[in-house]
Amino acid sequence: MIAKILVIHGPNLNLLGKREIDIYGKVTINEINRGLEKAAKEKKARLEIIQSNHEGEIVELIGKAKGKFDAILINPAAYTHTSVAIRDAISAVDVPTVEVHLSNIYSREEFRHTSLIAPVARGQVSGFGKTSYSLGLEAA
Ligand code: DQA
Repeated sequence: MIAKILVIHGPNLNLLGKREIDIYGKVTINEINRGLEKAAKEKKARLEIIQSNHEGEIVELIGKAKGKFDAILINPAAYTHTSVAIRDAISAVDVPTVEVHLSNIYSREEFRHTSLIAPVARGQVSGFGKTSYSLGLEAA
């Protein structure tokens, strides 16, 4: 069976490679996506990859995921710490969801220590740069 996985990059991740390089490194979103596509091919999984800066758009994508995708891999970015709407969408669709972060959110500012998403995710990978995504894909 070919697993179908929805990959969601949250706000500002389109700026990777130019944004706070000391924290996120020089990797671009295209490089991350290429790595994911390669790994998915080896595992015979099919990916749909989306980046959005809009909370409502992410909520809608998740809301339509039931029956279409076997798993969701999401870096909710700043919405990790603020979005009850994204958390509720994940909870509502009941599609196994893996949360990933490039940086270790627990070693940064205190407001990043709380993830509203973690309690409804199957698990979380945080702190390994682009490797967080490959580990997350493996889990998904
Ligand atoms: C992030 C961590 C978040 O706190 C931050 O708002 C991001 C990126 C990460 O991948 O490390 O935008 O999700």
